[in-house]
Amino acid sequence: ATPSEEKDLVIIGGGVAGYVAAIKAGQEGLKVACIEKRGALGGTCLNVGCIPSKSLLNNSQIYHQTLHDTKNRGIEVGEVKLNLKQMMKAKDTSVAGLTKGIEYLFKKNNVEYIKGAGRFEDENTVAVELNDGGETTLRGKNIIISTGSEATPFPGLEIDEKRVITSNGAIALEEVPKRMVVIGGGIIGLEMASVWSRLGSEVTVVEFLSQIGGPGMDSDISKQSQKILAKQGIKFMLNTKVNSGDASGDNIKIEVEAAKGGKGQTLDCDVVLVAIGRRPYTKGLGLDKVGLETDDKGRLVIDSEYRTKIPHIRAIGDCTFGPMLAHKGEEEGVAAIEFITKNYGHVNYGAIPAVMYTHPEVAWVGQNEAELKEAGVKYRVGTFPFSANSRAKTNLDTDGMVKFLADAETDRILGVHIIGPNAGEMIAEATLAIEYGASSEDIGRTSHAHPTLAEAFKEAAMATYSKAIHV
Ligand code: FAD
Ligand code: NAI
Repeated sequence: ATPSEEKDLVIIGGGVAGYVAAIKAGQEGLKVACIEKRGALGGTCLNVGCIPSKSLLNNSQIYHQTLHDTKNRGIEVGEVKLNLKQMMKAKDTSVAGLTKGIEYLFKKNNVEYIKGAGRFEDENTVAVELNDGGETTLRGKNIIISTGSEATPFPGLEIDEKRVITSNGAIALEEVPKRMVVIGGGIIGLEMASVWSRLGSEVTVVEFLSQIGGPGMDSDISKQSQKILAKQGIKFMLNTKVNSGDASGDNIKIEVEAAKGGKGQTLDCDVVLVAIGRRPYTKGLGLDKVGLETDDKGRLVIDSEYRTKIPHIRAIGDCTFGPMLAHKGEEEGVAAIEFITKNYGHVNYGAIPAVMYTHPEVAWVGQNEAELKEAGVKYRVGTFPFSANSRAKTNLDTDGMVKFLADAETDRILGVHIIGPNAGEMIAEATLAIEYGASSEDIGRTSHAHPTLAEAFKEAAMATYSKAIHV
C-alpha cells in the first residue's frame, strides 16, 4: 500500500448524496476525496435508478401515445414499430452524459475521484481496494459514509436480473416479456409496470396493502392513479401477498393469497419483478472496525447533524434515516458540509416532495389526509380537476386533480397532492409554498399565467379557503 494521504474529508460512495457533498466540499476549499466502486459516479440514481427509469418512461410513453392517441389529434401515422435496442441505447446515452458530467464537476471543484471500494481501517483511515488493482489508504479528518441502498430481496426467489429481476434488470430487459408479475405496488413497481405494459407486456401488480403507491401517497390520489393505470391495461391484485415463487421451469410460478389469509392462487409469468422496497447498503465497509452499528432496518444511526457516535464520521442519503430519494440525499450532502465548515446546516424534512413518473404523474409534498387525521389536526380540503383546466383540455390530457390540505384555523398549507400531467414540475410550487409557510389564500391570490396547468393548482388553493371559479 502507498503511504496514507491526509485529507480534510474522505467520502465513501459517489452517489447523489456523496457526489453533491464532494462538490460542495471542494467549493468550500476542503481537501476532499470521493471513493466510488462502480466505475461511474452518480450512484443508483444516475446509473440504475432515477435517470434510466425516466428515460424509459418518457420514450415508452411517446411510443404508447403514437400507437393509441394520435388520430383524434389529426395525426395519421404509418406502421409504428418498437426498436427496444435503440430505446435502451437512448437511455444509456443519457446516463453516460450525466455521469461523465459529474466527473467534469469533480475536476472543476478539485475533488479527487478514487475508483475503488473503501473500508474502514480505523476511525480516520480508509483503505481502498482499487478497481484497477492494488490498494491505497486515505486518512480523513472527516469521513462521510454515503454508500446508498440496494433492492430488498424476496426470500426463495433468486435474482438473476433476466427473468427474476429487481429494478436493475427492469431497466435493461432485452425483449418485452409476454407476461410480467410485479411484486410490490410501490413507486418502483408502478413505474416499471408502466414501462413494460406500454411496450406490450401483460403486467399484473401484486400489492400487500389496500392501496398502491407505497408510503405517503394520499388515498384519494392513489385510488385515481390505480383506476387510470388499470384503464391503461395494468392488472392489480391488492390486499394480496406473495408467499413464494418458483422460477425453475420456463414458466415462472408465483404463489399468492389474500393478505388476511385464505385461498391461494398461482400466477404464471415470464418475468417477475421484485419491488418490495430497498434497504441500506453498508456491506464490506468494515463498520465493526470502528464500532459503528446499524439499526434493525440496517440504517446507520446519526444525530441531527448527521454524526454517527464517532462525531467526525457522518452518514447521509439512503444508508441512513428518511425517505430514499435522490433530492433528499442532495440536501443532506450540502447540509453535512455546512456542518463541517460552518457548524450549521439545515434540511426541512417536512418539505421534501415525492414524484411518481407514471402517466399521469403523481406528486405530493407535506402531509396526507390519513396522517392529519391520525395527528388530530383539523384541516380543510380544496380540490380542482384537470378536466376543468383549459390547458389540460387543449392538450387532450385531462385525467387527474390537485388537492390542497390546509389548517382549518390558520389556512397554512399542510400538504398538496397532485395527480395529473406535469404534476412532478407543479409540485415545486407547493414545496416552495410550504417552505415559506404560505396559506392557501396566498396561492389563490397569486396570478398564474393563462392557459397553464398551474391554474389548476391556483384554483385548488382557491377552493380551500373560498370557491374555485371554473367548476
Ligand atoms: P446511491 O445512489 O445508492 O449511491 C451509493 C454509491 O456508493 C453507489 O454508487 C455504490 O457503488 C457506492 N458504494 C457503496 N459502498 C461502497 C464502498 N464501500 N466503497 C466505494 N463505493 C461504495 N429517487 C428520486 O428522487 N427520484 C427518482 O425518480 C428515483 N427513481 C428511482 C428509480 C429506481 C429504479 C431506483 C432503484 C431508485 C430511484 N430513486 C429515485 C432513489 C434514488 O436512486 C436514491 O434515493 C439515491 O440514489 C440515493 O443516493 P445515495 O447517494 O444515498 O446512494
Ligand atoms: P416501496 O416501499 O415504495 O413499495 C414497496 C411495496 O411493496 C409496498 O407498497 C409494500 O406494501 C409492497 N410489498 C412488500 N412486500 C410484499 C409482498 N410480499 N407481497 C406484495 N406486496 C408487498 O418500495 P419500492 O417501490 O421498491 O421503492 C423503493 C424506494 O425507491 C422508494 O421508497 C423510493 O424512495 C425510491 N424510488 C423513488 C422513485 C421516485 O421518486 N420516482 C422511483 C423509484 C424508487
